[in-house]
Amino acid sequence: MINGKTIVAGVVGRPVTHSLSPILHNAWLAAAGIDGVYVAFSPDEKGFERLIQGFRGGAIRGVNVTLPFKEAALALADQAGGRARRAAAANLLVFEPDGRIHGDNTDGIGLMGAFAAQAPDFNPAAQPVVVVGAGGAARGAVAALLEAGAPRVWMLNRTLSRAQDIAQALGPKVASLPLNHAASAMRDAGCVINATSVGLGGTGSLNLPLDLTPKDCVIMDMVYRPLETPLLAEARALRRRTVDGLEMLIRQAEPSFEAFFGRRPPVTVNVRALALKALEMNP
Ligand code: ATR
Repeated sequence: MINGKTIVAGVVGRPVTHSLSPILHNAWLAAAGIDGVYVAFSPDEKGFERLIQGFRGGAIRGVNVTLPFKEAALALADQAGGRARRAAAANLLVFEPDGRIHGDNTDGIGLMGAFAAQAPDFNPAAQPVVVVGAGGAARGAVAALLEAGAPRVWMLNRTLSRAQDIAQALGPKVASLPLNHAASAMRDAGCVINATSVGLGGTGSLNLPLDLTPKDCVIMDMVYRPLETPLLAEARALRRRTVDGLEMLIRQAEPSFEAFFGRRPPVTVNVRALALKALEMNP
């Protein structure tokens, strides 16, 4: 029963109605018997700052932030962890009782956790890695891979200058290439990660020459609508190991839950199965 002591957390994004985060967090809350609730907020562009400022002081415990507000979320944080600063984005804001806002970014934990779950042999420090895209998601992935010890990160992007800007910000291990020159980066890639929106809705192709990748290369797609994107289908046909975006979503939610509710999510509930059911209902 929701009552006067119920802890409130949520997700802020636009659009947010099909977000899977409320399903994950509320299932964990129920399984753990925590008096809490996790809801969704969808302010317009101008309303984001007002909403977040209004939460200062602990009106609610915290929020996850998703597109298109992650960069704005970092700007509103009074203190931000190194992960959020390197990613130049925050996906987690916690409202401290003293009025301060603490920003963090758990997307990198989600990305590396998804690899650990679905391609446990993958070692990010062993070989160069490839990230496709140069938006906020790509920058976060590059930062996480560097933190995990990647010796070299290739950023491939349709618009080269955007990848070059991120490469410059994140240091000499990051190099950029235009998308149509992908071949040279594929040959010794330990993994290829799609951090663009291409493949959403099951259509579109990055036209990557995946056949050039080593046999043990892992192909990961942050897109999870559909769960098997055209990129992952192609990777499977080539017998490459794959990692899906839903696993990343679940793994980034785990540390967020802990930040809101003070304990790890219970393992007794299969949130992946619940999320898959929700994806079936709302593809
Ligand atoms: P986010 O912050 O969500 O990561 P974004 O800033 O909107 O995203 O960036 C989207 C990424 O997808 C960009 O890297 C974009 O490439 P450009 O920088 O060249 O625009 C990439 N992208 C989107 N549609 C694409 C397409 N049809 N082909 C190749 N790349 C595409």
